[in-house]
Amino acid sequence: EFGIGIIGTGSYVPQNIVTNKDLEKIVDTSDEWITTRTGIRERRILEKDKSTSYMAKIAAERAIASSGLNSQDIDMVIVTTVTPDMAFPSTACIVQEQLGLKNAAAFDLEAACTGFIYGLTNAYAFVKSGLYKNILVISADNLSKIVDWEDRNTCVLFGDGAGAVVVSSVDLGKGILSMDIGADGSGGELLTQPAGGSLNPSTEETVKKKLHFIKMEGNSVFKFAVKTMAQSSKKVMDDISFSISDIDHLIPHQANMRIIESASKRLKIDKDKVCMNLDKYGNMSSASIPVALDEAVRSKKIKDGDNVILVGFGGGLTWGATLLKW
Ligand code: ACO
Repeated sequence: EFGIGIIGTGSYVPQNIVTNKDLEKIVDTSDEWITTRTGIRERRILEKDKSTSYMAKIAAERAIASSGLNSQDIDMVIVTTVTPDMAFPSTACIVQEQLGLKNAAAFDLEAACTGFIYGLTNAYAFVKSGLYKNILVISADNLSKIVDWEDRNTCVLFGDGAGAVVVSSVDLGKGILSMDIGADGSGGELLTQPAGGSLNPSTEETVKKKLHFIKMEGNSVFKFAVKTMAQSSKKVMDDISFSISDIDHLIPHQANMRIIESASKRLKIDKDKVCMNLDKYGNMSSASIPVALDEAVRSKKIKDGDNVILVGFGGGLTWGATLLKW
């Protein structure tokens, strides 16, 4: 008998920093507005000639290296993204080739900002079933390519980055202890990229109407986020009879400091147990949680035996949480 958990983490963020002051020059906004409304101070923006697979590959290399496995041991690659290099081939196949993961099945999974939690849950199920042993989950997003840089409502919120983990068997009692994923398609219109698919194929008109950019109802997403993050975190604790005092770290999706603070308040968790890096990176969609996790692991903030909740929400609408013992 064995547990199933994360045996390696890695991440990558682009070098290019765009500060709130920089954005003041592009749209009608201010450092003060962005900082007080969101907590974001700067974000990383990927070079124009690079794409999601570039960041995914580097994060994945780092995760494999930290796992102690070699690339031939990886038997599945899951990439979660809303900004694949292209519709097909999948970004997972592109990265599989670039890393020479010859023994790995590969596919993309799309659950917007909840992608990492969905990816982790899938990886758990494949290992648990015995079908696969060592699964690389990469969450990578290049949102700067689908943001309208003339729309102050959205362009100040997002950044680019990638995080990755290797999921495999671990000592019994460790690793993933409980998980929750959910969806409510009725809220789909709150967060969309309307064109580029089969409903609104790319035409001159869709480009002119800016239908290839992120559209968001910020206020409604805000309320949904606070509610579901608290609910989903509670569910993963209740399922194994844990209470909030058993939790050492909460790593929430990094969309907005006020969302995180409101959800933390509902959960009655100490502030110093809540990981936040959105001041440096903004919202990196599904990459936010694994980048924060990797940073917490590498800085030794997360220690052997710590109980960690990862919790996210996003387009779909989707949400999910994972409770794991490190
Ligand atoms: N600079 C200055 N003013 C701005 C800016 C800006 N960058 N953006 C909006 N405003 C203005 C608005 O136009 C509005 O002006 P008005 O009152 O004259 O119309 C005013 O600020 C207030 O707008 P609100 O929407 O009420 O501001 P709010 O406090 O709700 O903050 C925000 C907006 C930050 C978007 C917030 O609602 C939020 O974070 N929502 C959740 C977003 C989210 O989580 N998205 C991602 C989820 S999943 C994924 O990543 C794909």
